[in-house]
Amino acid sequence: MSLTHTPEPQDWLIENPNLVDAWGPVHTETVAQDLEVIGELPADLNGMYVRNGPSPAHAPHGRYHWFDGDGMLHSVRFQDGRATYRNRWVQTDGLKEDLRVGDALWPGLKERLPQGALPDDAMKNTSNTDVTFHNGKLYSMWYRGGTVYTIDPISLETLGKLEQDPRLIGLQISAHSRVDEHTGEFMFFAYGNRPPYMHYGVIGPDGALKTFMPVELPGPRLPHDCAITPNYTILHDFPLINSPEALARGRYSLEFHQDWPTRFAVIPRNGSADQIRWYEFKPRYMLHVANAWEEVNDKGETELVMLGTPYVNPRGFDGGLDVQRLLFTIGTQGTDYELYQWRMNLTTGATKEGIVDDILNSEFPMINTAYQGRKNRYTYNVLMGRMRTLEQPAFAGLVKYDLDTGGAQAFHPGEGYWFSEAPFAPRDGATEEDDGYVVGFVWNGIANRSEVWVTDAKDIAKGPIAKVILPQRVPHGFHSCWVREDQLKAAQVA
Ligand SMILES: [Fe+2]
Repeated sequence: MSLTHTPEPQDWLIENPNLVDAWGPVHTETVAQDLEVIGELPADLNGMYVRNGPSPAHAPHGRYHWFDGDGMLHSVRFQDGRATYRNRWVQTDGLKEDLRVGDALWPGLKERLPQGALPDDAMKNTSNTDVTFHNGKLYSMWYRGGTVYTIDPISLETLGKLEQDPRLIGLQISAHSRVDEHTGEFMFFAYGNRPPYMHYGVIGPDGALKTFMPVELPGPRLPHDCAITPNYTILHDFPLINSPEALARGRYSLEFHQDWPTRFAVIPRNGSADQIRWYEFKPRYMLHVANAWEEVNDKGETELVMLGTPYVNPRGFDGGLDVQRLLFTIGTQGTDYELYQWRMNLTTGATKEGIVDDILNSEFPMINTAYQGRKNRYTYNVLMGRMRTLEQPAFAGLVKYDLDTGGAQAFHPGEGYWFSEAPFAPRDGATEEDDGYVVGFVWNGIANRSEVWVTDAKDIAKGPIAKVILPQRVPHGFHSCWVREDQLKAAQVA
């Protein structure tokens, strides 16, 4: 079966490095079963890998940025040693309006905002950034914050919006809002350019909004992720902001304030705004959290620990929002992404922070989600390679960190490959934290095709034990999740 919604892209692809080769969009929504496999898919790998990313449906007006494209989900379902691929656009309000008119109506990130429009409202919510599974549905989310679209996990059909409660309407819910699979709660944060600049809330396993509060910030900020533990949620205020002067001129321009602290808000999970406590740290910016947990020290005091991949202000970063330039700057400097840890003592207010690893350059940390909010031992990150040219940034391989021993095991297949964020997939009947596989798309630039690589999580260095050959290219994209077979079956029954 195959559906084509818009004409195949032609001349509008040329001359933009984010629209050619493996960056370029695909315009066919398709399903392909019994895919060719190099190696052997393990029989105890059952469930679904799904990843979000940009695939612009129409020619952009003006300059195109990688973050601008319409969100498309690509899934690979594994059942009894066989694999099925499916892809579908998220049917956002913006995409539907573009399709109705037959043109791209919204300006991209690099273009001037429409006159008089607040940046909150001026851009199309493409829903292209993140995907997670909650209450039997996939949630597709956007990095700038907006409506969360709900998606059928089997068909990838867009079902609607996560706005049953009137307090959620118009709220800019961010990518990287997080699910606690032990309680079935969805912890979300929303941010924008108007006071109080941030909100936090919890949606329960029954779908009802059980907690909702303002989180007052000193001004508009660019938080990207959050962290959860069983009792607390940690929200971020980093000293990297959109320049207010640029915003007033209808532009975006990043400013990093070396003299401002990093601030984290600690909120009792289902508490209230008057219970928020702030902790200050050295200036950093971080896109992605690996995990957070609670520890009780020998004095009986509770400490929150958060682990992630921040970077210090890259030298030579010109403040522009050209992602390739940013990645190039980081990639050529090699060590600017650090695996890093922050500690917050909830009894004394004391803080501590430090580098876990500043040798390997890695990002897109993934864990066994059963350990989300609980002390875990392993994270699986994408290895960021050294880039030789601006046009060839490199998501070069995978690394598994052992937080107990301080060790790391990495795999890099050589030049010509581009990895996607690769979630952990537990093996059927798994008992140990790393008893399973790491599953992710790889652009194979040597064979000019997209593949899914399945790696034994206990032996990353061995490389993939199976490579699934995909029927069409999967453009470079962003975030992903693993949905277990029992979750899919329950969703199907419901
Ligand atoms: Fe992200």
